[in-house]
Amino acid sequence: MNELNKRVSEIGVVPVIKLNYPQRDAAPLAKALCAGGVPIAEVTFRAAGADTAIRLMKQACPEILCGAGTVTTTEHVDLAIAAGAEFIVTPGFDPEIVAYCVEKGIAIYPGCTTPTDYHAALKFGLEVLKFFPAEQSGGLAKIKAMAAPFPMFKVMPTGGISLKNLKEYSSSPVICACGGSYMVTADLIENGKWDEITALCRQSVEIVKEARAK
Ligand code: 3PG
Repeated sequence: MNELNKRVSEIGVVPVIKLNYPQRDAAPLAKALCAGGVPIAEVTFRAAGADTAIRLMKQACPEILCGAGTVTTTEHVDLAIAAGAEFIVTPGFDPEIVAYCVEKGIAIYPGCTTPTDYHAALKFGLEVLKFFPAEQSGGLAKIKAMAAPFPMFKVMPTGGISLKNLKEYSSSPVICACGGSYMVTADLIENGKWDEITALCRQSVEIVKEARAK
């Protein structure tokens, strides 16, 4: 895996974030994640101003790896990269966006859940794919089945991951890292529960460590 993918894999979990008030919440959130040993975020364009959130998170915690999620246009890609994003995540496989990123040397994790998606990803020489929505698409059983014909990919499952199933996913060598919003829910963010976010990150890191030690 390339250096970025190795780093993502080392961290092991990727918080999927929607920030309605980036000016208020981006800096304390970035600090809470880093304090919990999870210096990474997928900041989604589900909320306007995701690029502002990325900029502010990087300012608050320069060591944080910030990606943009729910990217559905090349304009999103441009905004995210200008803000300092280090990777792009798309919900599905959009060949136009993937080609755009690959041509510019921008890391991209496109959402893939079918053999057809994996075929398409092969053409672009990608190493890691997002597997979304993971639980609803067949979960770890499907991820393992897909790894038989496509052993060249590691995946980042997102959708339905929680403290309950994080260990099971993380114990599979096909998994690069697990994405989820359980440690950065709307309630936690809206109510500024930064210590709880840090605690959930710490717990997640421990679970990943345990899962991989086996
Ligand atoms: C995503 O965009 O990756 C998912 O909505 C996150 O899924 P979760 O909320 O089930 O963790």
